[in-house]
Amino acid sequence: MDFPSYVNKPVGFDAVTGLADSQPALARHYSDMKNMYLDEEARQKLEDNGNALIYNFYDFGVPEKDSDLAFGTSIVYPGKVGDEYHMTNGHFHTILDTAEIYYCQAGYGMMMMESPEGDVLYKEMRPGQSVYVPGRYAHRSINLSDTETLITFYVFRADAGHDYGSIKEKGFRKIVVEKDGKWEVVDNPRWKA
Ligand code: NI
Repeated sequence: MDFPSYVNKPVGFDAVTGLADSQPALARHYSDMKNMYLDEEARQKLEDNGNALIYNFYDFGVPEKDSDLAFGTSIVYPGKVGDEYHMTNGHFHTILDTAEIYYCQAGYGMMMMESPEGDVLYKEMRPGQSVYVPGRYAHRSINLSDTETLITFYVFRADAGHDYGSIKEKGFRKIVVEKDGKWEVVDNPRWKA
């Protein structure tokens, strides 16, 4: 059989960095997340001052078929934009009713989830724990640590697709901010029905 490279050779993910040994990671910097954080002024400042990396993830080019599984690591670096913890853009799946599994390899974070109808779920993630994202729920990873990188391994049906549209427009219903040294889930003032 003629298999893709990730079948012929297991992909190695570094235990400390989460990075793959087979190809470069995709990257999202401050400049890639305009208007995604509540404090846009703070985000712009961070973009102007070095435009550091917020997170990495992978696309191994798995065929987008319902019989295939897309996989990779998501690597969210510690930091905050204003009071809001570093996070991924987050997305619904284009085929809405498709689930996803995340397995936390390192760090400390949260999976924030919400359905189109407004049901909100959030689960803390610690090393060795998995989070099951039910079908129909948008999901975003948030790094709750000030010092550690949040590394998760994800698997989802390869034809699920990513729908960023509604989230780019108004974000998630809830955001996670630091208050008195602890995380707190609060209403997103910019979210509108
Ligand atoms: Ni997903």
